[in-house]
Amino acid sequence: MHLSAFTPIITFTLFIHSFSVILGQQPYIGLGTVACPRRGNKNSIRGYTCNGANRSCQAYLTFRSQPIYNSVSTISTLLGSDPSQLAKINSVSLNETFETDKLVLVPVNCSCAGEYYQTNTSYVFQNAETYFLIANNTFEGLTTCQALENQNHNPADIYPGRKLSVPLRCACPTKNQTEKGIKYLISYLVNWGDSVSLASAKFGVNYMTTLEANNLTLTHSTIYPFTTLLVPLHDKPSSFQTVSPSQNTSPPSPPYSDQSSNKTRVYVVVGVSVGASALISVLTAVIFFTRYRKSQKQDDSVSEAIEKKPQGKKKVDEKLSEIISGIAQSFKVYGFEELQRATDNFSPSFLIKGSVYRGVINGDLAAIKQVEGDVSKEIEILNKINHSNVIRLSGVSFHEGRWYLVYEYAANGALSEWIYFNNMDGKFLSWTQRMQIALDVATGLDYLHSFTSPPHIHKDIQSSNILLDNDFRGKVANLNLARCLEGAEDQFPATRHIVGTRGYMAPEYLENGLVSTKLDVYAFGVLMLEMVTGKEVAANLTEDETNLSQVLSAILGEESGQERLKDFVDPSLRENCPPELAMFVIQMIDECINRDPASRPSVHDMVQSLSRTLNSSLSWEKSVKISGK
Ligand SMILES: *[C@@H]1O[C@H](CO)[C@@H](O)[C@H](O)[C@H]1NC(C)=O
Ligand SMILES: *[C@@H]1O[C@H](CO)[C@@H](O)[C@H](O)[C@H]1NC(C)=O
Ligand SMILES: *[C@@H]1O[C@H](CO)[C@@H](O)[C@H](O)[C@H]1NC(C)=O
Ligand SMILES: *[C@@H]1O[C@H](CO)[C@@H](O)[C@H](O)[C@H]1NC(C)=O
Ligand SMILES: *[C@@H]1O[C@H](CO)[C@@H](O)[C@H](O)[C@H]1NC(C)=O
Ligand SMILES: *[C@@H]1O[C@H](CO)[C@@H](O)[C@H](O)[C@H]1NC(C)=O
Ligand SMILES: *[C@@H]1O[C@H](CO)[C@@H](O)[C@H](O)[C@H]1NC(C)=O
Repeated sequence: MHLSAFTPIITFTLFIHSFSVILGQQPYIGLGTVACPRRGNKNSIRGYTCNGANRSCQAYLTFRSQPIYNSVSTISTLLGSDPSQLAKINSVSLNETFETDKLVLVPVNCSCAGEYYQTNTSYVFQNAETYFLIANNTFEGLTTCQALENQNHNPADIYPGRKLSVPLRCACPTKNQTEKGIKYLISYLVNWGDSVSLASAKFGVNYMTTLEANNLTLTHSTIYPFTTLLVPLHDKPSSFQTVSPSQNTSPPSPPYSDQSSNKTRVYVVVGVSVGASALISVLTAVIFFTRYRKSQKQDDSVSEAIEKKPQGKKKVDEKLSEIISGIAQSFKVYGFEELQRATDNFSPSFLIKGSVYRGVINGDLAAIKQVEGDVSKEIEILNKINHSNVIRLSGVSFHEGRWYLVYEYAANGALSEWIYFNNMDGKFLSWTQRMQIALDVATGLDYLHSFTSPPHIHKDIQSSNILLDNDFRGKVANLNLARCLEGAEDQFPATRHIVGTRGYMAPEYLENGLVSTKLDVYAFGVLMLEMVTGKEVAANLTEDETNLSQVLSAILGEESGQERLKDFVDPSLRENCPPELAMFVIQMIDECINRDPASRPSVHDMVQSLSRTLNSSLSWEKSVKISGK
């Protein structure tokens, strides 16, 4: 376990300092939860404040299975949950025993007791325990010393056999959150190596929303193991969200399972003629490292492993060096020291976002992403891709069980930063820039859908996965969830694993798990909607939150549409966009988010339409300049 595993997570060094909008719902109290000796007035340490819309609600906790609390019955007893509900939400039977460290969802009834939300359970003091051990080790941070002491009379009087009343940390959504469609809050137990973005991604929620829910900001977003982070949910959590990261990031099944070794063979046969051998090597490398890491739990970096060749591991090391030379054919393999030098030893001042660092390699800027778990999909796809609208992977490194992917550097960061925090710090994208970016994204997607062999779908198009280069040209990034579309058919069989980001996911995928290129078209429609309105998708939805088209039809359908348009578009565009073109774009969006996938245009159609729109926008911009407006 390394402390560096949970480095401070988001510091958007490019444009942070004046960002100060704080809509904190419940403050994240960090190590306060386990700071036992420090008693006192930081009341929030006792529990989350009763500031919600309702005084009681359904809420969720998470718990990491550990002996002896590793079964449905022992966990539900410990945490005062209902065993049958607990079994149901984790999709297991009542007599299930969980493997150690498995993240278990725990449904609870949360309610106000005085100032704080809590759910009650009881616990009998064992020999040689302290409040700290109970709060941190037994309850894993779901309660705190302060809360325990506050709730029990004569807190100092502890003896084996004493029954304690234990308040657990839960919370109900505030009015603000309810208005955004948030129905539940889950008290997520932070693990080693977690970050706000990883935790958000796990539950498919927007990173900013989670930050807000915990009164965290882009500059202050460090979180610690054995503390609770509230993750706001639109829907009940489900067991597919709690699978371990390596399974989570490569749906439907990890590449080393039986099922997809078939797939690997298909890739080889279908064949990328030139890169085939490199590709196999990359895949094997990933599989191998994942296994190697699991079985050995060693801290060997790739280069160390090759150089040292300790006794008894000879075979393993021979294999390693083969693999490395395989990767080296398609990407550069960096020594970890090179990356350390490039990032001043991964210093926070080089942190861009999440686990992505800025680095200087041979005088050029690069983005270095530290990745947990399985990177095979992304490497495999990027290996075949060479397109200016898709982020380029230039190299890889492996150190202490982690992969580091080195990408081309996108100087202007993520699109989300520009559209959500519009006009702060002078950050503003003009109408024409937005159209150019939309066209870039469509072009990148078109390439993935139609010009890779076999075709791929991205599956996680959203504004934070679009990066902007120095000239504000868009690049599609984060191909973690991307999948290849085999055969001639445009549709996958239904998949059980729903992954992606809520709000961007097409209805047929959410409802039936259907996967096709039209998923990306839907998400792209939502992305354009955000670009036009300057708002997150959730904020565009009011009451009937599943229906974006209703929002649009209010503008498209009526005669007063043009009037409404003014309120609809991003305030900073209001006087600065051509209304006819805006209407046209809204029409396109409407087609993209059609419920019926077959009625959505193809990305190729979008490229055509957007390229006309961009041309018209450029002419409009020129005419505005000439008329001196
Ligand atoms: C709710 O949102 C409004 C505006 O979005 C903000 O002014 C207010 O402070 C928020 N309330 C809380 C409790 O965060
Ligand atoms: C949220 O954090 C800011 C500082 O980052 C602090 O001033 C403010 O009091 C906090 N809000 C709550 C409700 O704790
Ligand atoms: C609050 O309570 C009302 C009525 O009891 C219910 O309709 C609503 O769904 C609750 N809201 C939340 C966020 O639980
Ligand atoms: C929570 O409340 C519901 C209905 O009010 C009840 O059915 C359920 O058993 C309660 N759960 C627990 C753990 O008390
Ligand atoms: C769990 O219960 C099911 C039936 O409810 C039974 O088929 C299964 O064998 C049980 N498993 C164990 C490990 O006892
Ligand atoms: C939990 O315990 C506290 C303190 O004993 C009490 O005030 C509160 O009503 C209890 N909550 C429930 C739901 O029983
Ligand atoms: C809290 O508990 C965890 C797990 O039981 C343990 O690894 C960790 O060291 C504890 N924290 C402290 C500060 O003792």
